Amino acid sequence: MNDAREKDTVRIWDLPTRLFKWALAVLVVFQVTTGLLAGSWLTWHFRSGYAILTLLIFRILWGIVGSTTSRFSSFLKGPYAGLAHVRELLGSRGPRELGHNAVGGWVVIVIILALLVQAGSGLFTTDDIATDGPLVAVASERWVKAMTSLHVRWILVIYILIGLHVLAAVLYLIVKKQNLILAMITGRKRRDDVVAPDQPLPAIRFAGNVSALICLAVAAAVVYAILRFAS
Ligand code: HEM
Repeated sequence: MNDAREKDTVRIWDLPTRLFKWALAVLVVFQVTTGLLAGSWLTWHFRSGYAILTLLIFRILWGIVGSTTSRFSSFLKGPYAGLAHVRELLGSRGPRELGHNAVGGWVVIVIILALLVQAGSGLFTTDDIATDGPLVAVASERWVKAMTSLHVRWILVIYILIGLHVLAAVLYLIVKKQNLILAMITGRKRRDDVVAPDQPLPAIRFAGNVSALICLAVAAAVVYAILRFAS
């Protein structure tokens, strides 16, 4: 990397967090498409649903043991921090943040939980024709009915969350001139968007990719165990 870029930008996001984010985005679009197409597409809907579940469990583990900017403990802040962030947003320049801001951090949690509800209910969903989710056979008829109804209605919550998430990123870009989308691709932010020029950079501890692979393997084992339980 050339020196100017090294000096003007700061490495914020680790590779596992960025891969998680974009893989989840692609899979959720695929998941909505295959769910709406239904029929034989449900075979792929199930496969990508298991991949989404694995990614969500991975992200929860990574939120505990991952790099500083990916840890829940570093970005989940109280209501005062949230209000301070909103005040900053109303100011003329963009807020300076190391990773997720005080509002965005909670949005991450809400999106993960909402997707867990969507994917978890899918395991008990039936199309009432030929395709049953893998846990339909071990659940009561009443539960399956409730989960199927939840699965087809909860998607509205997901659409709203995705819409707000994309809107926030676009507004940051247009109004605050901060490109959060590019930062999630390159892993780097402009130094001026992180701290004031006269301030030192906060220390970030980056967790290794091997730790990420271990978290991914544990997450995949949990999903595998759920599916084995059903068969
Ligand atoms: C985040 C993950 C998921 C998303 C975003 C998602 C989304 C959707 C959508 C949009 C539909 C169509 C609903 C409609 O007809 O109005 C659907 C249907 C369905 N999904 Fe999912 N789904 C997810 C995970 C899963 C999983 C993990 C399973 C099972 C392993 C599953 C099983 C089903 C089934 C069986 C249907 C057909 C229901 C019907 O035709 O009434 N889904 N899903």
